[in-house]
Amino acid sequence: MTEIESIRETALSEIERVKDLSGIQEIKAKYLGKKGSITQALKKIKDLPPQERKEFGKKVNEVKKQIEEALKAKEEEVKREKLKENLKREWEDLTLPAFRPIGSLHPITLTLRRILNIFTSKGFSIKEGPEVELEDYNFDRLNIPPDHPARDMQDTFYIKKEGYLLRTHTSPVQIRTMLSEEPPIQMVAPGKVYRRDDDPTHSPMFHQVEGLVVSENASFPEMRYVIESFLMEFFEEELPVRFRTSYFPFTEPSAEVDIGCMICGQKGCRVCKNTGWLEVMGCGMVHPAVLENCNIDSDIFQGYAFGMGVERLAMLYYGIDNIKTFYENDLRFLRQF
Ligand code: DAH
Repeated sequence: MTEIESIRETALSEIERVKDLSGIQEIKAKYLGKKGSITQALKKIKDLPPQERKEFGKKVNEVKKQIEEALKAKEEEVKREKLKENLKREWEDLTLPAFRPIGSLHPITLTLRRILNIFTSKGFSIKEGPEVELEDYNFDRLNIPPDHPARDMQDTFYIKKEGYLLRTHTSPVQIRTMLSEEPPIQMVAPGKVYRRDDDPTHSPMFHQVEGLVVSENASFPEMRYVIESFLMEFFEEELPVRFRTSYFPFTEPSAEVDIGCMICGQKGCRVCKNTGWLEVMGCGMVHPAVLENCNIDSDIFQGYAFGMGVERLAMLYYGIDNIKTFYENDLRFLRQF
């Protein structure tokens, strides 16, 4: 009995002092394992004289239970402590920005962001419209007549739903903005557009940025200034710029904007088709009929608008000669940006 008592004391004080799970396992084996002292004591019961068996058995079982409970409590305590320590060490602030971003921005995204930054710094706001657009906004209200070739099934992706199509340009965002806002308006609209077109410089889906200014004194010279200064900032060089008379149903007068070919320095090359000039956007004074189609009084307000192709600007800026490289996701191409 005294031996059992001393086993209890040493076991409990060992359990009290132990600090880790492996120490707990050792103690468990030492007392409760196959060769453990408690297990051995239990085996001795049958060798005792019958009158001592009951009392001794009761005592050993009591000590065994006590050791088991102390071990269990200790194990939980050690696990709790370990968790607390891990949390202290491994704590992460998930709201922090990534230390090193994974991947990189696509050249079209980079180009779009550069274009939009230039315009927002000039006071333009950014508007967006749907890619599945009303035929009315994409064509009719832009003064594009029913027999215009752009309306042909050969050029435009129509969808099953009557009166809807995949927008062929970002110009319908002009209509949406004029219908929902009062002038003065000064906005740019970036986005995807769709056309039945497919060759090294055309893709059935591409991006445009549209611009629209409507105010009481919007003028052609102001538009020239805005577009020329945009082009200088975008190409980071003083390029020659010319406004060439052109035609769009939604502007009058209309112009196409050319920049001096930066690839050959206007000497003539494959990219500028030996003309020395590269066409970069369309523009013009908003046709009064378009203002009226959007309930804007054309006796009071004037507008100018412009539209540019993002892939085209990106190809010229980076010196890329095939539009398809933007959509192939070839890492050797993408890693250069
Ligand atoms: N929407 C024309 C296109 O896709 C581009 C354009 C030309 C937009 C003249 C305009 C503009 O706003 O005034 O070819």
